[in-house]
Amino acid sequence: MRLEDAILKLADSGEVGRKVKKGVGMLAGGLMDIAFPFLIPTQDVVEGPGSSARVAEILKRNGGTKALIITDKTLHELGILDTMLKGMEEAGFPCAIFDGVEPNPSIENIEAAFAMYRNEGCDCLVGFGGGSSMDACKGVSLRVAKPDQTIKEMGRLMGYFPISFSLANSKVPYIVAVPTTAGTGAESTVAAVISDHAIDKKYTVTDIAMRPRTVFLDATLATGLPPRVTAVTAIDAVSHCVEGYISYGRNPRGDEWAVKGVRLVKDNIEAVMKDGKDLAARQNLCTAAYAGGQCLNMETTGYIHPFCHKIGAKYGLVHGRCIGAVMPIILEDYGEVVAPRLARLAVATGIADSNASQSEQAKQFIQWVRDFDAKYGIDPYIPEIRDEDLDEIADSIMVEIFVYPNKKVYTRDEIKHLLKVIRGDYANA
Ligand SMILES: [Fe+2]
Repeated sequence: MRLEDAILKLADSGEVGRKVKKGVGMLAGGLMDIAFPFLIPTQDVVEGPGSSARVAEILKRNGGTKALIITDKTLHELGILDTMLKGMEEAGFPCAIFDGVEPNPSIENIEAAFAMYRNEGCDCLVGFGGGSSMDACKGVSLRVAKPDQTIKEMGRLMGYFPISFSLANSKVPYIVAVPTTAGTGAESTVAAVISDHAIDKKYTVTDIAMRPRTVFLDATLATGLPPRVTAVTAIDAVSHCVEGYISYGRNPRGDEWAVKGVRLVKDNIEAVMKDGKDLAARQNLCTAAYAGGQCLNMETTGYIHPFCHKIGAKYGLVHGRCIGAVMPIILEDYGEVVAPRLARLAVATGIADSNASQSEQAKQFIQWVRDFDAKYGIDPYIPEIRDEDLDEIADSIMVEIFVYPNKKVYTRDEIKHLLKVIRGDYANA
């Protein structure tokens, strides 16, 4: 029996499964707090408008001689890479460009980019774009380190372990991440979400060796983002800060990033939505997204992301759009289990009234998310969810969540009910 099937069988065994999963989550939360600060490699961050011009300098300094830039066609055609490319030209640093990354990066994307990396004689990587380009870049880095292992095989353990920690570390090429949206936090994380279109599934491949070594947070790259993209990526960043903060995975380091990230989104989103070229506010959103990535590393996620991963993959939906709909529903359903922590986050970020009761403060946070959705045009529901898919989606959620340190644990029937709530079945009830 495959590990995935065994976990599903256990997780799906009613009250026993609920108790086992809860214990695993508590254990995972404790272990993360002890081990992660020592396991996750450090990372340099270069911040500021125009900073991407310095990518070549950093690559050169770290022994690179030719880079493969992994990005998508739209960014390439819009000239968003130009500042970085001009810097490379001036530094006499050669590069090849793979611009075939899809919105949800596929195994095929990674294989095509990996072939280009080898054919072009590259020795370092630049992930340039949204989470898709950066995740594809991380996937390529693992293929370089482990050419005999497919991405599918790397996802076999469902990303539960730093699978090539000792083996790949020395073989993974130097990776630079240049995010152009402010949301995914992929520039900071040790995971890559890769789609297998053949079975509508996303693999989370986790490996501490593929954490980008240097990150460039350059607000000028995001000034042309459409408002909708700005909104859905910002709410994604918020979710990264919230999910771990209210879980057993919480710890003081992660909490600091969580408060910082949510506060930066709250204080800057309006300015950026009014004027997309407000560089100071844009830079703050870039930092918020980075903060969210740090939270993912240090505190992981709860149910919101497993729901969104499967729904997004199944119906080809933008991740942040799913997050905007799913987050308030799940937070509301968690209820009193997470209210003390959610209230604390809400007060620390200035979202809730410090004189209100704890449960009222938690509700004020949820309302803030709902107001965000309404104000910036994010659908509150996902009507695409079909009855015949409920069990398949529930399977995926139960497996993905199994080792996460979330506090409330759902059975299959509860997950299916939540999926109907997310679909909007009770919207007018
Ligand atoms: Fe996310």
